[in-house]
Amino acid sequence: MTSVAPDQTPLPAGSPTASPLIVLAGATGALGLLIAHHLRQRGVHVRALVRPGAGTRAEAASLQLQGIDVREVNYDSVADLTEACAGAACVVSALSGLREVIVEAQSRLLEAAVAAGVPRFIPSDFSADFTRLPEGSNRNFDLRREFQRRLDAAPIQATSILNGMFMELLKGQAPVVLQGPRRILYWGSADQPLDFTTMVNTAEFTAAAALDPTTPRYLRVAGDVASPRELQAAAQAATGKPFKLLRPGGLGAFGVVIKLTKALAPAPNEVFPPWQGMQYMHNMFSGQAKLHPLDNARYPGIRWTSVRELLTASQGRS
Ligand SMILES: NC(=O)c1ccc[n+]([C@@H]2O[C@H](COP(=O)([O-])OP(=O)(O)OC[C@H]3O[C@@H](n4cnc5c(N)ncnc54)[C@H](OP(=O)(O)O)[C@@H]3O)[C@@H](O)[C@H]2O)c1
Repeated sequence: MTSVAPDQTPLPAGSPTASPLIVLAGATGALGLLIAHHLRQRGVHVRALVRPGAGTRAEAASLQLQGIDVREVNYDSVADLTEACAGAACVVSALSGLREVIVEAQSRLLEAAVAAGVPRFIPSDFSADFTRLPEGSNRNFDLRREFQRRLDAAPIQATSILNGMFMELLKGQAPVVLQGPRRILYWGSADQPLDFTTMVNTAEFTAAAALDPTTPRYLRVAGDVASPRELQAAAQAATGKPFKLLRPGGLGAFGVVIKLTKALAPAPNEVFPPWQGMQYMHNMFSGQAKLHPLDNARYPGIRWTSVRELLTASQGRS
């Protein structure tokens, strides 16, 4: 294990002197970088675990500039990970990947956290509510459930943060708000409520939860809850232009489209191939992955971004 930079940057004025240490895995990722930033804003000592060689990358440099202790660790070594977890109040995982990451690497991280005597663990779930979905309805959720079984059997306090879909995906990656033809594409009911949370809000909430020793097993948040019909209103308000609803079919037809897409373009090694994104949307449109009840009010001070605000801001930038 290599310590790339010691944590020498002073904490912001007003920080508690005995600041807790949070160990963050996946800190170089999109969500991980935001969680790291919000932990530092709360005056917390952060130790970011990165893969060998990643300590010289721009993401690691940005973490170090914020006063974060960046450690290169061998994720295949429980001993290495145990040393890296020593002294932490909580291990937060923002890793992303398939079985070798979500189940295998996270299991070694979990084993290390337990061996190091860390009291709390936040796994890389950050999704719709997979706890209520049948096995086989979403490949990536099945992996999370598999890790969940190991986590729940371990002598550590676990908290999963469920946030629905990252709202930023509505800006293009998820084909729901179609800006070109000005359509809201949906399957099933136009009145099914859907959960969306920005990555920043997810990171803010995760940082607060990492410091809260009283968290329950699950925390559910949604920056905004909007049905396809409400997305239509939000898109119209944000752009000042009319949007129409576009419903190619019901959920059964969507299931057939997903099967066909998977057969034609399986991409088994991709974390988010098109059919996986479609499975995610199917889970949301069916209402089975709906988050309830919401814990948005648990940490005062978080200002939740709405879909309308997000779409308005993205108009300003285009
Ligand atoms: N709810 C939603 O709509 C939504 C959407 C997207 C993602 N997510 C979830 O949010 C979480 C974070 O995703 P993200 O988009 O921030 O992912 P990301 O940007 O791809 O970052 C993934 C992180 O995991 C690390 N990593 C990947 N494979 C690894 C391995 N084998 N060993 C050690 N580290 C490894 C990466 O390290 P390197 O930098 O070295 O590659 C990086 O730090 C995941 O749980 C993901 O499923 C949710």
